[in-house]
Amino acid sequence: MTSSPLPDLYCVMGNPVAHSRSPAIHARFAELTGESIAYERRLVPMDEFAQGVRDFVAQGGRGCNVTVPFKTDAPGLATECSERVQLAGAANTLTFRADGSIYADNTDGLGLVADITRNAGVSLAGRDVLLVGAGGAAAGVLGPLLLAGARQVTVANRTLAKAQALVQSHSTLASLQKSELLALNPQAIEANFDVIINATASSLAGADVPVPASVLRPGCLAYDMMYGPAAQGFLDWARTHGAVPRDGLGMLVEQAAEAFLLWRGVRPPSAQVLHELQQHASA
Ligand code: ATR
Repeated sequence: MTSSPLPDLYCVMGNPVAHSRSPAIHARFAELTGESIAYERRLVPMDEFAQGVRDFVAQGGRGCNVTVPFKTDAPGLATECSERVQLAGAANTLTFRADGSIYADNTDGLGLVADITRNAGVSLAGRDVLLVGAGGAAAGVLGPLLLAGARQVTVANRTLAKAQALVQSHSTLASLQKSELLALNPQAIEANFDVIINATASSLAGADVPVPASVLRPGCLAYDMMYGPAAQGFLDWARTHGAVPRDGLGMLVEQAAEAFLLWRGVRPPSAQVLHELQQHASA
């Protein structure tokens, strides 16, 4: 009797990581595409990301997703970084190649853009976008938002210097794309927008939404990159003020689909998996 080969090994590394829904999403992708993979969670001690990666490679790991707080450490372990990683200074997907090289990519922004344009059906081309926050989460999505053809992107952050630094590092891409790119203090915004994206951790801190409701154009898309209870305050605020709220569950599924495509060369049916997760959440 011949035994079937062991599945290829992948994981998500983070701290904390117990909450991660990536194992369930990748397991469903594997089921639907017939790919033979095993995908696990790995809780990595705070200062031991590099060791965690080495251990996983030694155990035969083929790739890993990287979550908080290691996304900005991940590029330093790679032998090759995608342009997206170079721009964002952060990676969420590592691929461990047979020759020992490590490729770092960042699929967060692709996931956000795919969820907004394909799943929510909102075009970003020619639109005015407000990106709230200037930490790692915002850095990972600004490039793809510009590449999606936004007419203008305003980055608003409590600490203005961080928004200015992000604008500075993306200024060449913005001019190539003929997009206007500005940094503002959240309380100084006078304009309103077609799409508002919350990339701050303010809801986790139990704080109010960090921009005034005057930023919302009637019927605009108000997107929180978080999902579950952490996004609820922002979604309620958006709905109350006449915007269309959306949480980051679709972004999570779409960034996972991009990683799966990178690793396996097969695009999983992400819209179907998102639909299943939404049904499950509302059941
Ligand atoms: P992440 O990787 O999730 O982006 P981060 O790099 O620590 O985490 O960035 C957190 C972001 O949330 C920052 O934009 C932060 O603003 P500052 O740069 O001013 O710190 C923002 N943030 C966190 N708590 C906030 C609050 N209570 N109000 C407004 N913005 C907040």
